[in-house]
Amino acid sequence: MEWKPENENEVQNWEEVVLIYNSALKEIGTKLEILNDEFQHVHQYNPIEHIKTRIKTPQSIVKKLKKNGYESTISNMVEHVNDIAGVRVICSFTSDIYRIAEMIINQSDIKVVSVKDYIFKPKPSGYKSYHLIVTVPIFLSDRHIDAKVEIQIRTVAMDFWASLEHKIHYKFEGDIPEHIKNELVECANMISDLDARMLHLNEQVQELVSD
Ligand code: GTP
Ligand code: MG
Repeated sequence: MEWKPENENEVQNWEEVVLIYNSALKEIGTKLEILNDEFQHVHQYNPIEHIKTRIKTPQSIVKKLKKNGYESTISNMVEHVNDIAGVRVICSFTSDIYRIAEMIINQSDIKVVSVKDYIFKPKPSGYKSYHLIVTVPIFLSDRHIDAKVEIQIRTVAMDFWASLEHKIHYKFEGDIPEHIKNELVECANMISDLDARMLHLNEQVQELVSD
């Protein structure tokens, strides 16, 4: 399963891939920080609670390529694995998710590859999040490369659910017993109710305070 570069050339290519995706994470991270700061300046609150970034390990890149029937080459990785660079943005309220997504999509150097709204249409597991795959240009000494980044945007409550479900999934190697699956879906519904109530509560507070 493990992928190892086979020659000097592949080692160099892999190092370049890591350099480019790390740069892409920095670019997107900075864009998000700027939006958060501007929001604080204009609306006196931070829509972003925190941001996590990661580069997918070579092992899990290879696993994904195999699953989809591709050979483990660097060009297949770059072409067919959209989440080599991943950013997770954790917000306070559902409304912040759409604001952040729109502000990123509207930036002139960002190209949108795909949008999946698992908040509007949750996965059968109960999973909710807003997923964007975008490209961001990385300017090197002699050229620029559009690097793909997967951005997952979710509330603190959705993140709580997703991390527990991920652990459970891992423990049962994907074969979760039916009653646990059902309970997870119930918890996901409770999380949606909680997010809606928290949003409503915050709107009430904002109204009272602005009077
Ligand atoms: P992957 O092959 O898993 O990347 O799925 P995909 O290419 O069909 O994309 P999708 O947008 O469905 O999922 C991308 C990522 O979202 C996953 O790698 C997970 O991080 C997350 N995700 C999707 N579905 C679930 C789920 O049911 N539970 C949890 N915990 N995370 C999920
Ligand atoms: Mg993934």
